Amino acid sequence: MSLDTTVKSGLEGVVAAQTRLSSVDGQAGELIIAGFPVEELAGRATFEETIYLLWHDTLPNAAQLGELRQSLAERRTLPEATLALLRAAAAQESDSMDVLRMAASTLSLPTKGRNDPQQDALTLVACFPTIVAAYWRMRHGHEPIAPRADLSQAANFLYMLSGEEPGDERVRGLETYLNTVVDHGLNASTFTARVIISTQSDMISAITGAIGALKGPLHGGAPGPALDMVFEIGESAQAEAYLRAKLERGERLMGFGHRVYKVRDPRADVLSVAAERLYRTDGDTKLYDLARQVEQQAIALLEEYKPGRKLQTNVEFYTALLLYGLDLPTELFTPTFAISRVVGWTAHCFEQLALNRIIRPQSIYSGEHNRRWTEVAER
Ligand code: ACO
Repeated sequence: MSLDTTVKSGLEGVVAAQTRLSSVDGQAGELIIAGFPVEELAGRATFEETIYLLWHDTLPNAAQLGELRQSLAERRTLPEATLALLRAAAAQESDSMDVLRMAASTLSLPTKGRNDPQQDALTLVACFPTIVAAYWRMRHGHEPIAPRADLSQAANFLYMLSGEEPGDERVRGLETYLNTVVDHGLNASTFTARVIISTQSDMISAITGAIGALKGPLHGGAPGPALDMVFEIGESAQAEAYLRAKLERGERLMGFGHRVYKVRDPRADVLSVAAERLYRTDGDTKLYDLARQVEQQAIALLEEYKPGRKLQTNVEFYTALLLYGLDLPTELFTPTFAISRVVGWTAHCFEQLALNRIIRPQSIYSGEHNRRWTEVAER
């Protein structure tokens, strides 16, 4: 077979897998998650229902849902070695994504070498919120709060951060976010997980690698800066001058533009509705209203300064607003993303294992030929 030697930089346009998990249509602005338009699923499903859907390709009945909730709840407590690692990391003030990567790999300690992808996937999904919340508390000088088995994944995460049981609206807001970002085609971290599991390595190794990929600023996104921009603008009358000055300086507006979506990212719509609901319930929509005005102004100015580039609101803009409304500090934005995306990663690993063909692309050699060896003293 002759080899196509065209290098596809960034693998753009290369189809490397078939998946039933999600479909991203950047021209139409559509995201399908396991058959459901994201708008249909995200605001209705509990996070456990979405987990079941991705793992089993069907919604669970009451008994199946109860069983999954119990399986997750009984795996939430971290091994002592993981807690010791979190304490050591807190003393060093390590980055929270570095800590999530280190802690995830300790979850293979209790497995004693057994390679059981289903059990490992349950443990990873169950433990991510505990790791993130425990580390955040330790890092800020507080004792971790033990997980509760009677709460859902989302409610328990919020509880472990603050020690207070969250109200239904807050749980709904977080579940909508977790459902919205659970899977998104063959993005860099998902591809990483598939490459690792394709060697018949174990699930914990695959997910540890995926965290490393997500940590990079080109992937984990920048919801923090998007929110900073809204805060710096402060009031809607300042929006135009502020944004214009940024564009005049050649800077990018955070929370706008996307490699795949050339229309409004459908996740932005879902998260905007969830954010509005949350801020309304809290009785103060000032920040939400300001963000909407900033968004409208930004889109108009992007069309003026970058005509034809089709720069629209991306997922980061409303992620920031929603998570901030849930009292999550910006340092928790990317780890919270991982709490959701680990479900997509594990589901992709199951798909990859079912096919079981090692992912092994080719490279084109661009180096020298026929070099001759010289001894070190002669170089
Ligand atoms: N503000 C101003 N100009 C922009 C923006 C923006 N947010 N995004 C793109 N542009 C301009 C570029 O300057 C470029 O202009 P030019 O043609 O005059 O040189 C043109 O639009 C095309 O930009 P590219 O960088 O080629 O677009 P690409 O598809 O590679 O970039 C990206 C996508 C990285 C998301 C970009 O839009 C960006 O930097 N956005 C701001 C950061 C951000 O919001 N990141 C989170 C993305 S969501 C996620 O990753 C999950």
